[in-house]
Amino acid sequence: MKRNTILCTAITGAAVALSFAVGAVQAQQPIVIKFSHVVAQDTPKGLAAEFFAKKAAELTKGKVKVEVYANSTLYKDKEEMEALQVGAVQMLAPSLAKFGPLGVKEFEVFDLPYIFDNYAELHAVTTGKVGQNLMAKLEPRGIKGLAFWDNGFKAFSANTPIKTPDDLKGKKMRIQSSKVLEEEMRALNALPQSMAFSEVYQALQTGVVDGTENPISNFYTQKMHEVQKHLSLTNHGYLGYAVIVNKKFWDGLPADVRGQLEEAMKQSTKYANDIAKQKNDEDLKSVQASGKTVIYNPTDAEKLAFKKALVSVHKKMESRIGADIINEVYSVTKFDPTKL
Ligand code: LMR
Repeated sequence: MKRNTILCTAITGAAVALSFAVGAVQAQQPIVIKFSHVVAQDTPKGLAAEFFAKKAAELTKGKVKVEVYANSTLYKDKEEMEALQVGAVQMLAPSLAKFGPLGVKEFEVFDLPYIFDNYAELHAVTTGKVGQNLMAKLEPRGIKGLAFWDNGFKAFSANTPIKTPDDLKGKKMRIQSSKVLEEEMRALNALPQSMAFSEVYQALQTGVVDGTENPISNFYTQKMHEVQKHLSLTNHGYLGYAVIVNKKFWDGLPADVRGQLEEAMKQSTKYANDIAKQKNDEDLKSVQASGKTVIYNPTDAEKLAFKKALVSVHKKMESRIGADIINEVYSVTKFDPTKL
């Protein structure tokens, strides 16, 4: 959808909101929250969005209706950010790798290869000072950050086996719109191609790109296993989300309703983070059962070779992300690039 269309939708939306306000007393219309996202319903984010819709209705006693639009049915990656800013939708949960184009490059710290070993380290960062400071950076852009939701750790896929960093050399690899991920692919001598999530399956099918990286839940639910013969469980990076709302909309809610929605979000965040690993584990079994993709589990020595090949990305991206943020994350996760 083009920017003009988004603007028109927003203007129409505002007009509709106004006419609702006029008739509000008689009609008792619920407050509608459009929650747009790009993944399938049966993913950690898709399920958590549905959970939030249910909790929001329950806790506000029907005063709020959350409409979830999954699978890019309303907007694709870049458009959904614009739509949120102009108020055409109220809530999103973009991947942390997609905040650069919004001007908040610091979120790309989450994309640094191997910076997190596990979910526990990740949570120590998102629930701590770094998480709070990152969310605060969104406010001048008219956006409020409500929560961090997990997906998982990424695997590389292609049509040829991936056991060593050299196996990705010369391959066109689809990435999310993050400069850190671009640099990650360059460090492997691959050719990064940034592309909307909704276009990945077709790009893989038609050979526009040779491979990609994603947590297994995204890989499986987008049926990428049908068009990728090899998957390597490198766990070389994390993919998760920030749940964000249009700030003006959020601040304009009646205080009691906002409080109930905050509670609904708290419960949904726990739910999201409880199911993320389990969903990814289940989907890995489904990929295996499909018999279409060979799953490879790299040895410790092979993982170390990937780490060594990718560690340079941390230093290269320091000026973009900020040494202070990177060092704060290191101090929590105990990642030490000099020890590799
Ligand atoms: C991707 O574009 O690969 C992911 O950000 C999709 C998502 O929202 O998990």
